[in-house]
Amino acid sequence: MLISQFPSLSSSRYVKYTRPSNCLTANSNAEISLCSQANRPWPNSHQFFTIIQSPFCIERRCAQETDSCSTSPYQAKPQFCAGDGGACAVFQAATGTESAIIDGVTADATDDLTPFNTDWMRKYGGQTRLVLKPQNAHEVSKVLEYCNDNKFAVVPQGGNTGLVGGSVPVFDEIVISTSRMNRIRSFDEESGVLVVDSGVILEKADQYLAERGHLFPLDLGAKGSCHIGGNVATNAGGLRLFRYGSLHGNVLGLEAVLPDGTIVDGLSTLRKNNTGYDLKQLFVGSEGTIGIITKLSILCPARPKAINVAYFGLDSFDQVRKAFKEAKGYLTEILSAFELMDSKSQSLVHQTTGNKRPLEGDYPFYCLVETSGSDSDHDIAKLERFLEHVLGEGIVADGVLAQDETQIQSLWRWREGITEALSHLGGTYKYDVSIPLPDLYRLVEDCRERLTKLGLLGDDDSFPVRAVVGFGHMGDSNLHLNVSARQYSQEVEKALEPWVYEWISKHSGSISAEHGLGIAKKEFIGYSQNDTMLKLMSQIKRLYDPNGIMNPYKYI
Ligand code: FAD
Ligand code: MLT
Ligand code: ZN
Repeated sequence: MLISQFPSLSSSRYVKYTRPSNCLTANSNAEISLCSQANRPWPNSHQFFTIIQSPFCIERRCAQETDSCSTSPYQAKPQFCAGDGGACAVFQAATGTESAIIDGVTADATDDLTPFNTDWMRKYGGQTRLVLKPQNAHEVSKVLEYCNDNKFAVVPQGGNTGLVGGSVPVFDEIVISTSRMNRIRSFDEESGVLVVDSGVILEKADQYLAERGHLFPLDLGAKGSCHIGGNVATNAGGLRLFRYGSLHGNVLGLEAVLPDGTIVDGLSTLRKNNTGYDLKQLFVGSEGTIGIITKLSILCPARPKAINVAYFGLDSFDQVRKAFKEAKGYLTEILSAFELMDSKSQSLVHQTTGNKRPLEGDYPFYCLVETSGSDSDHDIAKLERFLEHVLGEGIVADGVLAQDETQIQSLWRWREGITEALSHLGGTYKYDVSIPLPDLYRLVEDCRERLTKLGLLGDDDSFPVRAVVGFGHMGDSNLHLNVSARQYSQEVEKALEPWVYEWISKHSGSISAEHGLGIAKKEFIGYSQNDTMLKLMSQIKRLYDPNGIMNPYKYI
């Protein structure tokens, strides 16, 4: 294929895409995101539980009793009770206003509580009867101290976009939402340091920074809903980690509240601070198990003035690897993302959005390459040399280059829209894994082969599995293996687990690259961490949370 198949860089010959209206988009807001969530069908999930309470223990059962349904291995810890009218009065005094509490203890508030009880995938759910929305660390402190004294279990919740069931209660734990801690506190244009409350929505922070010539160093498909505190608590990776690094490097300081009410003031704005253990790092990726993050400071880079996005079709995964290697060589400092999508993922996005596809042919693999720099002419010259090379050498079969911001956003939708597209089709078994690059896509192929051999994967409705899809952050060696099921079933789950985790362990990978462990991967942590590490983690958990009230039943 010839370079001329790319529109010439000055031409406007580029097919226009329309942005799907029901997706989490760069310009969407939280309401739109939630609305699109509400429109998604509920998977027929045996993993979506309700609770049947007895005086002695709480048993977790399937919401819909089916053949595939089984009683959960989790027993509610007897010392945790969910609060009563007296507790509600205390919480109201602590938060200073009635609107800071959704009280399903003294009144029926089922409808208002449902969104807090249900995760984004509608796969996991609990039955909290209390949601608290404190406004600052002092209110969080009063609430947590009371919960700790009375052994009320709590679940911190941000935007509730987590994909491992960590943000929702398992039984009737009290949800502490960060939604009212939503102020941007300060921004220093000279240093690029932003200080925010933990409940600020990621996209809002990025828009604020854009007006000041800066960029939030994290970007992900749920940006219209997720909170920055939730991002830090999950150590979210996203689409720009390749360029800007992980939150472990960018978060400079934070304020958090421990379960006993202690306010940890570590809100440093310094880039360098070598004075003992870097305790803030424990909160980054802690998934709500040791305390609640209330504020944080983060280093934000200057917003690149010149952004280019190309979308390629490629004939094999080997060609994808070659293209990645060449992109690093030719584009070096301006390469800001290299994302992988397989054929199935793109046909599912097409099927659910109806949008015109960027390329005419069908290819087994697609890549999205983004450059970010400060000098458009310089970047375009580099990009042209790269495109000439990969097309000339036959590494890339075909491609398009976005001509303006709208087209850039449209091309990104083919990558960012995969999660949403899958969620419209029923249930998804999601695996978010790190694997050394040479083997990255083999997991998808092996999984497809396995499910086919077991008679579980097929095109018509008699097969429980509709598709095995692979996509991810190629630049970070991070694959998202998604198994799209017509319905959740134990047969499929048994075919996948622990097989997937064994496969990953055998190939020196990690069972969670970015989404965390939550409840979904709790049982499998041993595939990625050894006994010594697990023991140290338990000791830290006990030190910070001796009563175990923080996000119980989750990974630790
Ligand atoms: P929640 O879901 O509310 O909570 C997540 C976890 O953090 C829970 O365990 C919760 O208890 C804890 N928590 C939340 N807030 C706090 C706090 N203030 N203090 C202590 N603990 C807290 N993830 C990625 O890493 N990369 C991606 O590219 C990515 N893309 C996504 C795309 C879509 C469409 C969706 C739906 C999700 C995606 N995710 C991705 C997963 C998810 O968005 C991230 O994990 C996000 O960081 C979660 O933020 P949240 O505010 O929604 O947190
Ligand atoms: C992504 O990269 O799109 C996210 O991590 C979400 C997902 O894995 O579905
Ligand atoms: Zn991801």
